[in-house]
Amino acid sequence: MDSSSFNVEEHKKMLQSYFNGQGFQRWASIYGSDKLSTVRSTVRQGHAVMMDKAFEWLQGTGLKKGSKVLDAGCGTGLFTIRLAKNGYLVKAADIASQMVNKTREDAEKAGVAGNIEFEVNSIESVSGSFDAVVCFDVLIHYPAEGFANAFTNLSGLTQGPVIFTYAPYNKILAFQHWLGGFFPKKERRTTIQMIRDEEMQRVLKELGLKVVNRQKISFGFYHTMLMQVARR
Ligand SMILES: C[S@@+](CC[C@H](N)C(=O)[O-])C[C@H]1O[C@@H](n2cnc3c(N)ncnc32)[C@H](O)[C@@H]1O
Repeated sequence: MDSSSFNVEEHKKMLQSYFNGQGFQRWASIYGSDKLSTVRSTVRQGHAVMMDKAFEWLQGTGLKKGSKVLDAGCGTGLFTIRLAKNGYLVKAADIASQMVNKTREDAEKAGVAGNIEFEVNSIESVSGSFDAVVCFDVLIHYPAEGFANAFTNLSGLTQGPVIFTYAPYNKILAFQHWLGGFFPKKERRTTIQMIRDEEMQRVLKELGLKVVNRQKISFGFYHTMLMQVARR
């Protein structure tokens, strides 16, 4: 996608429609306990490795129980529910109502729905004030222009840590491989969007943020860059 053709509203509509439909089925099954193909199993496992690491980093910041955390693009709520079980107060926001409904349903089953505020909203528009913000495997769907805009909103919602994943530029083949199997052909243009290192540095500098932790997570067909940033 070239920068002149990026339209944030159209992009959001496309993501919302995909993640409320076919994308919901696919990702709910990967994030759930269904039996999966070998390829998708590695995605499930890689995602679990990423979440463990992110949780470790978050706890390493000394965030106390009762702190408010935004899980932006919460999906089926895996991280939201984990946070809530550990005593954090979470806002679980996602552009797809199907995802938010699934998060609510699972949170109720786990008995932690009382610690969670559920919201159908986009990462560009979600608001509030939080002790930390997390956003996993969402920004990977944004090209540089949209990334900067969405990330500016998210990072402005906290004075604390922001932990997120993105697709670094040099992973072209791996990401094509990974996502090729998950997206319908006509939507593949909008799959993984890679961010160049210079662009990431520019955005962080402009927002007065510094990198605290950065780790590439590669597991079978799951590849992502996990990053923790904080105010300078
Ligand atoms: C691959 S899933 C990741 C879900 C979850 N963060 C996780 O790692 O388990 C991507 C999620 O991002 C959501 N999403 C995509 N674009 C979004 C946007 N602009 N604002 C909020 N959520 C968005 C999708 O609906 C989907 O639930």
